[in-house]
Amino acid sequence: MKVVIIGTGYVGLPTGVGLAELGHTVVCIDKDEAKIKKLNARQLTLFESGLEELFKKNIAAGRLTFSTTLQDHIPGADIVILAVGTPPHPVTKEADLSFIYAAVEEVAPLLKDYTVLATKSTVPVGTGDKIEEILEKTNPKADVDVVSLPEFLREGFAIHDFFHPDRIVIGTKAPKAIKILTDLYQPLGEDIPLHIVSRRSSETIKYASNAFLAVKIHYINEMANFCEKTGADIAEVAKGMGLDSRIGPKFLQAGPGYGGSCFPKDTNAMAYMGREAGVNLSLIETTIYGNDARKQQMSIRIIEALKDIPHPKIALLGLAFKGGTDDCRESPAVQIIGHLVGTDADLVAFDPQAMEQAKKILGDNVNYAPDAYTAVQGADAVVILTEWTDFKTLDWDKIKPLMRTPRVLDFRNLLDKQALKEKGFIYQKIG
Ligand code: UGA
Repeated sequence: MKVVIIGTGYVGLPTGVGLAELGHTVVCIDKDEAKIKKLNARQLTLFESGLEELFKKNIAAGRLTFSTTLQDHIPGADIVILAVGTPPHPVTKEADLSFIYAAVEEVAPLLKDYTVLATKSTVPVGTGDKIEEILEKTNPKADVDVVSLPEFLREGFAIHDFFHPDRIVIGTKAPKAIKILTDLYQPLGEDIPLHIVSRRSSETIKYASNAFLAVKIHYINEMANFCEKTGADIAEVAKGMGLDSRIGPKFLQAGPGYGGSCFPKDTNAMAYMGREAGVNLSLIETTIYGNDARKQQMSIRIIEALKDIPHPKIALLGLAFKGGTDDCRESPAVQIIGHLVGTDADLVAFDPQAMEQAKKILGDNVNYAPDAYTAVQGADAVVILTEWTDFKTLDWDKIKPLMRTPRVLDFRNLLDKQALKEKGFIYQKIG
């Protein structure tokens, strides 16, 4: 099957590589010439665990190519997948659909034979209808079905998730489109969990899922606050809750708040859609507010812990919004550090993958160390901000004499509390 993917970001690129690995012929399109040049030179433009091997393999097999132009690729494509950004509006936070609509305007006149036009970008309910209106105006003769095909890949695990989906949601009632999309994913196996629904339901499933997961995280973070005041332990509480199959063990990891390019954006967009529809989504509104405040509360914890030390040196381990990625968009780590900039603390940061991305945001407000052991030198506190496994395996016997004060604030509950206490560290965790 011939697939064209428009947009080569964290959604488009792993999806393109995954579909090529399934045996399809995939062309990934992006307007950014530098990006396409790099991809054509077989260099990845983002870090995603396990992506590189499949990327190179499928280019070599001739199934995966990259281009800046649509003209040669849209005619003859069975499926065109929109995977461009839908960033939040700076004021209202509603999803900005200008990239989607611009792509549709360009694709429309090029459509020849029957084509499925699928939206993988996260778009508000009703966007599929608007895309149809554009197609109707621009190329009324086009033989096309507009489908919602939301993605549920987690960054850092995108390749794993692509090949082991919990579900593939297909938002269309058009039999021809259903057949083509079923065939597209057929190589995943006989039992692929297809969920075929109306386009509006599909668009809503994506937002409702991300918002629910965000609420779950905010809930466990509030429980962590409660545990801190009452002497319970959040790890024990979360495990005890998660053993109930109705609750489930996932997304009950307390931490510094959720971040990334999806949850903050999608909860805000969902809240906006609720307000627009006149529906009270108070749970989501409260989650957004609570999660924003949490990053500041985390920085206050650091300041409080060091209040008796003049000009403390703080080693900040982790900059990415979570482990396994170099992505710093809406990263709690970066936001917490942002709250520390301007205090009298000397800030030194290290991340195994995200230094370049973080530098674009934090600039020279922070010093950057080449590794964790350099970062901790002379420090009065180590703060674990991202749950990298690299930090789990650090040699704390080596670290202790390097620090001025052996203090650890573990905002990801990554380390062994007992072991660190026995080594003489002052250890503070979440919950
Ligand atoms: C999220 C969803 O999990 C994906 O299903 C979805 O496809 C994606 O958004 C998207 O809409 O594109 P992602 O943003 O990559 O994926 O990251 P998650 O693994 O979901 O983590 C999001 C944030 O929640 C991170 O900051 C993470 O540290 C935090 N988190 C996650 C917690 O604080 N506790 C948890 O138990 C789980």
